[in-house]
Amino acid sequence: MDLSKFSQEEIKVYGSVAVAVACVVVAKPLCVAAHRTYDFIFAKGLHNQTEIDTYNDLHNDSKKSVEDREKEYATMVNAYYDLATEFYEWGWGQSFHFSTQKKGENFKAATIRHETYLAGRLGLCAGAKVLDVGCGVGGPARNIAHFTGAHVTGITINNYQVSRGNQLCARQGVAEDVKLVQGDFMELPFPDNSFDGVYAIEATCHAPNREGVYSEILRVLKPGQVFATYEWCLTDDYDASSPYHQQIKKDIEEGDGLPDMCHTSKCTQALRDVGFEVLEARDAALDDYTGGEPWYRPLTPSWNPFLMPRFQFNPVIFKLSPMILYALECIRVVPAGTHKTQIMLQKGGVGCELGGSTGVFTPMWLMVARKPLK
Ligand SMILES: C[S@@+](CC[C@H](N)C(=O)[O-])C[C@H]1O[C@@H](n2cnc3c(N)ncnc32)[C@H](O)[C@@H]1O
Repeated sequence: MDLSKFSQEEIKVYGSVAVAVACVVVAKPLCVAAHRTYDFIFAKGLHNQTEIDTYNDLHNDSKKSVEDREKEYATMVNAYYDLATEFYEWGWGQSFHFSTQKKGENFKAATIRHETYLAGRLGLCAGAKVLDVGCGVGGPARNIAHFTGAHVTGITINNYQVSRGNQLCARQGVAEDVKLVQGDFMELPFPDNSFDGVYAIEATCHAPNREGVYSEILRVLKPGQVFATYEWCLTDDYDASSPYHQQIKKDIEEGDGLPDMCHTSKCTQALRDVGFEVLEARDAALDDYTGGEPWYRPLTPSWNPFLMPRFQFNPVIFKLSPMILYALECIRVVPAGTHKTQIMLQKGGVGCELGGSTGVFTPMWLMVARKPLK
């Protein structure tokens, strides 16, 4: 660019405008990242991380079997979410699930569209009573209450998620419409026929068996009403004899607190076996997203610091972040064990990304099912 045709005064003015624009563009993501990091480390007081060794032992195949993990599912899942919840919120936001991004959609818009699509399948009226099975910190429940006008009760096994989620509901002014409670979805603490709709987003994969959780959902749902879910499953492309596929499965289970993953057909059959009428079952990951992004793109590395969560997966940050956390452990800014949790979660992230890119795994096996009238 030939600057000689500009006067000193013009260069100063244009230069100042350029710097101001750059500051405005950069300031917002930087402020968001700084606020999340502050919240992660200081404001919430990062949880006790001592459970990491117990959790890792449960996934050590030389010490524990799949049957052990199924028997001890409640301890394992609760320990996992004690360890992982703050990391999830820091790196992902208040909704703990994947979504494909359609052309022109950003991460947040895709997240909300994915949730409200599922809610739409329940055919709810304003004021309806809805159950969110495995609700996390209630991100989807708040969005769905907002979208449908329904009252949403969320259930999670993890006490920290209940207190954090109800705190967020109060902060966002929806405490009247969304309430999180603690409980085990294998024994739902609700009377028979008490909900107008039930949904579950990437949660019932933590169950030791699908029949148990689906039969509980059937029990609490009113006759004629609908259950809709996105399930984590192995697909037809999964080859049980391939060591590579086995490793992907293992990394997902270990990095995501799952006892054992199963094939899509097993989940659909379990719904039928407990008495649901299955209205639809398909892989929503295969829905058209031409010009957009697959669900696993946020897990692929990027050097762009404004592309969270992808920036965390670039090789430098991937290696550096557990070291930084270890240094913070040594000066007691974060609890001992935090870096091991980060390594465990990274394994889950890589497993999911490879599961998605090879097509052997889907986190959105969509099933919509009705409870028969009698
Ligand atoms: C991946 S998170 C998904 C959370 C939420 N659906 C979302 O999309 O933000 C899985 C959730 O299932 C819950 N969960 C797992 N096993 C459970 C059980 N046996 N009973 C109740 N909640 C359970 C976890 O505590 C966690 O909240």
